[in-house]
Amino acid sequence: MTAKKTWQTQTRMVHEGGARSPFGETAEALYLTSGFVYENAEQAEARFKEEEDGFMYSRFGNPTVRAFEERMMALEGAEDARATATGMAAVTACMMSQLEAGDHIVAARALFGSCRYVVETLMPRFGVACTLVDGRDLDAWKAALRPETKLLFLETPSNPVLEIIDIQAVADIAHNHGARLVVDNVFATPVLQKPLALGADITIYSATKHIDGQGRCLGGVVLGSADYIKNELANFIRQTGPSMAPFNAWVMLKALETLALRVEAHCDNAEKLTAMLLAHKNIERVYYPGDASHPQFDLAQKQMRRGSNLIAFDVKGGKQAAFKLANALDIALISNNLGDAKTLITHPSTTTHSKLADAAKAELSITPGTLRVSVGLEDSDDLLKDFEQGLAKLG
Ligand SMILES: Cc1ncc(COP(=O)(O)O)c(C=O)c1O
Repeated sequence: MTAKKTWQTQTRMVHEGGARSPFGETAEALYLTSGFVYENAEQAEARFKEEEDGFMYSRFGNPTVRAFEERMMALEGAEDARATATGMAAVTACMMSQLEAGDHIVAARALFGSCRYVVETLMPRFGVACTLVDGRDLDAWKAALRPETKLLFLETPSNPVLEIIDIQAVADIAHNHGARLVVDNVFATPVLQKPLALGADITIYSATKHIDGQGRCLGGVVLGSADYIKNELANFIRQTGPSMAPFNAWVMLKALETLALRVEAHCDNAEKLTAMLLAHKNIERVYYPGDASHPQFDLAQKQMRRGSNLIAFDVKGGKQAAFKLANALDIALISNNLGDAKTLITHPSTTTHSKLADAAKAELSITPGTLRVSVGLEDSDDLLKDFEQGLAKLG
């Protein structure tokens, strides 16, 4: 609330954003209000004319939501931000606020299913064409560019098998073409990877994941330059309404105080589970960007501080074995969410990526035996024992 710009990031995560009310509360106040009153009609007029700063209606802005946005800006190193109701609202608002009929998007094909729907199905309905590329192949990005390409979009590490895309190199390709690069940074979190510092123009989060981190609230956030946020995104959100609810913003704001601590602990557990899976006879293949066995380990080391809490792996024995393992685990819960304090496991082929054709699944290395784990904050010995007993059941 009284954060100084010279303070280290963790100190700012505890204090940044908002202002104390006259009651002098320690924890940030929750302004659960849809509207705001004006002292007089002249003040209302001045606010609507944008001659005076101040809140008007929570669809446009709210003090608790703004406090969350300010804390996120400090974490990401962004000039401005807007929070949204969900991560998908952030993705859709980001696209719709800056594109128009006739424009073209180039996107990495390894995208979360709903993001793929937005670029592949929704945007073309409004006259915005899209080309999907293998995001690891820099020549493919260049070859897909058209004179009307305005936006490049990627997710790294990707969902579910944790492909790594070179953010700096793709940002250069975008900028040489006069286009912008948007990065969905959900898997890495702002603690492990900072897309804006690597050259991206806009970073997007599903705050539902590690930012909340305890599986309570949906939320999203878009971060970028003051110019883009103020002149393009803010008005889109104001007019169309994908705004974050103040209660959710309050939960997310408080969760940012512990995000860095939680992410480090998540990574500690994920590294131990990766080592155990790599050595197990019933595992065919493990994908973890923080381990030297990952095909893009060097690139991951260059742009990520640690490997994240997501691990994908193929069990021997296909779908039957994958289901058997998921069903046998006691601590790891079957859920398609991620970034939770609880360890969650999902079978991408039949859940998050079930809508993809078999050929598209194969392109993304999703096999019938692939499982994705979001490693939680449980005791690592318990977690390893749980996977050991589950894998033992596969014979
Ligand atoms: C990479 C990625 N982007 C975006 C989203 C969408 O977020 P939300 O569920 O908050 O809309 C998700 C997860 O659902 C995701 O995993």
